[in-house]
Amino acid sequence: MAGRIGVIGSNMVDLVTYVTRMPERGETIEAPSFDMGYGGKGANQAVAAARLGSDVMMLTRVGDDIFGQGVLENLREQGIDVTHSAKVPGMANGVAPIFVEPSGENLIVIVKGANATLSPADIDAAADDLKRCDLILLQLEIPLDAVYHAVAFAAENGITSILNPAPAAPDLDVSRLKGLGWFCPNETELALLTGLPTETEDDITAAARALIARGIENVVVTLGARGARLVTGDSVTRIAPVPVTPVDTTGAGDAFIGAFAHFHAGGAAPQDALAQAARYAALSITRRGTQKSYATPDEFAAFAASHPG
Ligand code: RIB
Repeated sequence: MAGRIGVIGSNMVDLVTYVTRMPERGETIEAPSFDMGYGGKGANQAVAAARLGSDVMMLTRVGDDIFGQGVLENLREQGIDVTHSAKVPGMANGVAPIFVEPSGENLIVIVKGANATLSPADIDAAADDLKRCDLILLQLEIPLDAVYHAVAFAAENGITSILNPAPAAPDLDVSRLKGLGWFCPNETELALLTGLPTETEDDITAAARALIARGIENVVVTLGARGARLVTGDSVTRIAPVPVTPVDTTGAGDAFIGAFAHFHAGGAAPQDALAQAARYAALSITRRGTQKSYATPDEFAAFAASHPG
């Protein structure tokens, strides 16, 4: 069974340069290849969930330029409902220059562009359609006021919400996230938001519980090649990593969150949804690009058969 997911978030055009090494300050280096693709944490998560079969609506703001037009067309091609996504007159689309090393590790700069205009009023304007969602999915490439408003809207309407607090925002006010169902930081974001260490397993559990004490229901900490941890008020569940040889890790976190949203909204138990998400993210890092690296259900089934975990 597939659920209906409302993504309130960003879109970007990714400008990806594959380098043999990162340049030093003041240095010019030549890189062997370049690729352009659709990205942005919100759109990436929406595409991952839609590609897996969820019914997805996206509320985003695009630029008044060729990038913005392309973003809307791409979302439509993925089967995503963009009724509540709009062009912002006079503004450029969000872009993300990205550098990927041979190890698959990356360095990303984002320019928010039109994403910076998404407001609480835009959420209210989409309220009737958002109320039909099983789950609302959020990240931090849009203004924080919109994020707080969306969390409150979801709680008031009994809709499960997931917030992926990326990129890390030191000014995120956790006290304004009461009623948030799922908070999914990586360990760096967790340390930044709590001011607590995240070096050891016990540190991670304690930092996650500090968030739970402030009104968040569940915390999922993503740990890259070490898998993930699901921390609730009274349990800790390890989500095993799925070992692969990385080609490009860009968008792997978004693959994880989008897949988790898909499986969770579809009714899977949390630990099963998270194990599937880890597998989906692992598959994505064996391929180049962000949205381009997200598998179809058939490709995912084949990968899952050879990587049972
Ligand atoms: O998480 C990866 C994404 O971060 C990229 O697609 C880029 O657009 C930035 O938003």
